[in-house]
Amino acid sequence: MSTKPSDNQLDNKSQAWSALFSEPMSDLVKRYTSSVFFDKRLWLADITGSLAHAEMLAAQGIISGADHAAIQSGMATLRAEIEAGTFEWKLDLEDVHLNIEARLTQLVGDPGKRLHTGRSRNDQVATDVRLWLRGEIDVLGSLLTALQKALVTIAEKNADVILPGFTHLQVAQPVSFGHHMLAYVEMFSRDAERLQDVRRRVNRLPLGAAALAGTSYPLDRERVAATLGMEGVCQNSLDAVSDRDFAIEFSAAAALVMVHISRLSEELILWMSQSFGFIDIADRFCTGSSIMPQKKNPDVPELARGKTGRVVGHLMGLLTLMKGQPLAYNKDNQEDKEPLFDTVDTVQETLRIFAELVGGITVKPEAMERAALRGYATATDLADYLVRKGVPFRDAHEVVAHAVKVGIESGKDLSELPLDVLQGFHAGIAEDVYDVLTLQGSLNSRQVIGGTAPVEATRQIARHRARLG
Ligand code: ARG
Repeated sequence: MSTKPSDNQLDNKSQAWSALFSEPMSDLVKRYTSSVFFDKRLWLADITGSLAHAEMLAAQGIISGADHAAIQSGMATLRAEIEAGTFEWKLDLEDVHLNIEARLTQLVGDPGKRLHTGRSRNDQVATDVRLWLRGEIDVLGSLLTALQKALVTIAEKNADVILPGFTHLQVAQPVSFGHHMLAYVEMFSRDAERLQDVRRRVNRLPLGAAALAGTSYPLDRERVAATLGMEGVCQNSLDAVSDRDFAIEFSAAAALVMVHISRLSEELILWMSQSFGFIDIADRFCTGSSIMPQKKNPDVPELARGKTGRVVGHLMGLLTLMKGQPLAYNKDNQEDKEPLFDTVDTVQETLRIFAELVGGITVKPEAMERAALRGYATATDLADYLVRKGVPFRDAHEVVAHAVKVGIESGKDLSELPLDVLQGFHAGIAEDVYDVLTLQGSLNSRQVIGGTAPVEATRQIARHRARLG
């Protein structure tokens, strides 16, 4: 995942921790412990956090106004260098924090060295990861909205299209394809809610916890939190620098997004197979085979299903990373970044492609309807019809089982059996039975809240549209 520098990027310059060290760090250790080649991704959060800290230091009279101004201008230069790609990231300087601070000091001198007053990399890194993650959660929120909108659109177009609903992957009852798509809208809307909830706990400020115990400088932590748009200040310094539960619960929410994507993927793959033939996926989302000319493979949903494993794996990795760490900060926590970065990248890329892919689905209503008819999907409707005629449900269930048996033997759907044959199963059956035996009749009858009737789907679609904007 990380890009490791080649040996010639290393030099043996002693790492200037302090006069305490009598020999330079070994190259192996330097490479093993450095994180700059992946955590440089946090540069903007690092600068943002530092500027808020410096502003507060000046407001509290801990550094001078001139120092603050120098830090601001140095950071502006440094930011421009990073954006232009001219900033020189140094492995020797271990991580994003030390790289930025060293360059700042190179640019502005002593004020750069004053920036770290009342701060430690321990509270700094926790702040940076939280600021960065907050922004990514917002991106995920927009992507989830876009995907839901795409699903609502396809649901609306297909609110009347009959799909065999399955339980145990056996035909159960007819549902509408639109209703089926709306099930995923519910899942992704809960995912969005979950991420919003996680965001509240991500968006709290560790700065001021310093290394682990707080600091003796008169810091105004609330001020820094307000500057950074954070919702509060972490209330225990040991907890603030050491726990990564916010990253773990984010990963859990992200893993659920992928689990939902994976379920959808599995259905798309099945539906596109020759055995089902319910849908087609636009060619731009498929690939061919190098040996079998007839093949068109649903690679995107297959890969998404596969990438779910990777995101779930990162969740396990983070949980295991945290387990057994004594308070407070331990270097173990440097290992939180790559899984977190990869989780964000994977989920964002997947959601982006799925919003497009859903728009490229072609529905084949005849194939779906044929499959629903083959499976005696309206058997429950016949039982319910008999119940309405006064037959106890368990008896009705038995009567219908006989009817289905005859249907199977004669290769006919229940709606295709003549009235006299149906009356042979129960004398109470009349001509109006065909209203419930048709797939459309069955569908239309399920108007309960959350039911599959097209009128209810239409109502749900309106609700989603109002919610999604
Ligand atoms: N790169 C470190 C991390 O990601 C920063 C904090 C290092 N703190 C320390 N005391 N060594 O966790």
